[in-house]
Amino acid sequence: MDLEEILQNPEVQELTANLNAHLKKQRAINPFKCEVFNSAYTHLTAMDQYQFHIHTDAKKYLPAIVNKKVNKITGSNVCLPKWNKARKIGVVFSGGPAPGGHNVLAGLFDAAKQANPDTKIYGFIGGPDGIIENTSIEITRELIDRYRNRGGFCMIKTGRTKIDTPEKINLCRQTCQQLNLDALIIIGGDDSNTNAAFLAQALLADKIQVIGVPKTIDGDIQVRDKNGEVLCAVSFGFHSAARAFATEIGNLCTDADSDVKYWHICKVMGRVASHLALETALQTHPNMTFIGEDLADYIDHERLEKVRTQKTTDFTAYGMTLRHLSRVICNGIRRRAAKGKNYGIIVIPEGLLEFINEIQVFIIKLNTIIAKYNKTHDLGFHVSFPLLSDKLDYLRKLARQSRENQGRMVWNTRDDDLFNVIPDFFQEGLLMERDSHGNFPFSQVDTDKVLMDLVKDYLNTLKEKGLYKIGIKKDYFIKAMQDDQLDPDFYGSKIFIDYAQNQYLMIKPEIFSLRTLKAKLVRTDVIKDNEKIPTAIKKIFKQSIPVFKTQHHFYGYDGRGSDPTSFDCTYAYNLGLTVFSLVSNGATGLMAAIKNLELNFNQWEPLGIPIAPLMHLEERNGELALVLEKTIVDTDSTAFQVFKHHREDWLAATTGEDNFRQPGPTNFDPRNVDDKPLTLALSVYGRNKSY
Ligand code: FBP
Repeated sequence: MDLEEILQNPEVQELTANLNAHLKKQRAINPFKCEVFNSAYTHLTAMDQYQFHIHTDAKKYLPAIVNKKVNKITGSNVCLPKWNKARKIGVVFSGGPAPGGHNVLAGLFDAAKQANPDTKIYGFIGGPDGIIENTSIEITRELIDRYRNRGGFCMIKTGRTKIDTPEKINLCRQTCQQLNLDALIIIGGDDSNTNAAFLAQALLADKIQVIGVPKTIDGDIQVRDKNGEVLCAVSFGFHSAARAFATEIGNLCTDADSDVKYWHICKVMGRVASHLALETALQTHPNMTFIGEDLADYIDHERLEKVRTQKTTDFTAYGMTLRHLSRVICNGIRRRAAKGKNYGIIVIPEGLLEFINEIQVFIIKLNTIIAKYNKTHDLGFHVSFPLLSDKLDYLRKLARQSRENQGRMVWNTRDDDLFNVIPDFFQEGLLMERDSHGNFPFSQVDTDKVLMDLVKDYLNTLKEKGLYKIGIKKDYFIKAMQDDQLDPDFYGSKIFIDYAQNQYLMIKPEIFSLRTLKAKLVRTDVIKDNEKIPTAIKKIFKQSIPVFKTQHHFYGYDGRGSDPTSFDCTYAYNLGLTVFSLVSNGATGLMAAIKNLELNFNQWEPLGIPIAPLMHLEERNGELALVLEKTIVDTDSTAFQVFKHHREDWLAATTGEDNFRQPGPTNFDPRNVDDKPLTLALSVYGRNKSY
């Protein structure tokens, strides 16, 4: 074999080229356009019926854009003055990648160039730093065509820098002036749209328009007006990431159901809200899925009753503790094992800890301590205290100071004592460096490990008490006994709890080792003290002893980098077209959106939504800051209620089959645009259209 010859073979070259058949097909797809974009021109119509509760700080800090209206995009044959003038438009990706980003650029590019081929689009490189440092490229048709319908933000990259000081805003202004920009487009999540609002306010005097675009796989940018009317049901990228996770988790369901030996623990992204976990659950029906928002709502009625009767105080009755959650998981595992299923799938959201009160308190206190340290010292907290032991020493010092000040400080001795009993890796996780927005890095904390360590401990306790056992199929037991010429009914009634009735038999709790098995057989006169346990009984007993084996998986970055689904391809492309309509009609301080995403494509309605009224105060870097409000899972929504209704079926702690669902691979045919997130599809069946 001459390798050189093989490498020169055109067929071999085609087989191994970066540009493969899938990619060619993917790039060639033309997403459908909303009807309004088939008109020659577009206008904006202010929609006075949509009103918001506006925060006083938004009025104070964003006065020039706070009273903007929701604007609907309408088609027209009339070209308004300046609609198609040659423009310079800058675009930037900000925050984590989300599938569909390139299509926003494609939609904007196609619309802008069609309106005026002299319009130029500049892409800032590496996120907001690209604006601050003025590093950009001109986006050409060749570039756009290379990335059409493809995942990631590879064309111009992304970054997480926050534009949060007058100096940074000034540098952005200088860049926009140097490039002579008419408009700046920020494609990002809650923090990035917050940046967009502040920049819109700051650049108004320079007549530079700023428009935001709702991006995040987390699905937590959703907009309603004050009457609950949904104006933006979900950000782009959510569906693709959820489907990518669901494809993988669906495959794990198949593996678990075949090999029947592992519990697969799947942590799925979603820094704060559990939308991705809920969508994945609806797509695949794992045996157990925990939704953070649901755990936070939990009320322990038993504890409350105890408090009432014993006249005591219990701070853990509201919301679920990690310990309690581990007990709930063990209960599910134990019940499935009793039906012969010592395997399964558990889905937990990455941001679970955000909803566990005891941990949330630590996160907020540590955020405050780190932010305060960074503000008052030359060196940052993580540079000054590189090792975990240094950080713990510093916290200890704060606790001492608090004692001297009689507990009037953020970190007291009780915090320190509680913090010191948690495992090192978890302490390290909670002390991890925050991003520039002050966000806690949930993706880097082994939440699943913390939880499953507690689960393993408790399962061992249950095992020692004889309460965690694998149920033995009655037919199997009878055959095993008969093969050994033993009377199944005689032996069965001695060793099983309820031999007469159950299809799956549970060995009595007091039998939890060969020693206790023998003692039981001797005590019930089945064998003499000097006789051996019959082989078949021994075999059955051994089969009833569970080995708890787990495999941990993290679904996040892979889904973030997946190609967009048809829904996201189309949604993002139309967001790009919407952006151009907003810019060409002179809008600023608005976020491009599409109303009616939960309905069929022909009912989608492109809009511009004012950003300032969507803001509220939130703890960031230990202080309250005005930011775009995130939407967490509504436990009254149809999607959550449907999930809750099926929770017991999907646990499948029965003798029947599991209820796993295979969502199948995603299909890139644009005609599949109506294959949308199930959380959205279900929302239309609710009375209040909640999702
Ligand atoms: P955005 O909010 O920027 O869209 O990012 C969301 C996310 O994917 C979260 O789900 C995850 O916690 C986080 O990014 C991870 O961020 P990083 O890229 O910094 O690890």
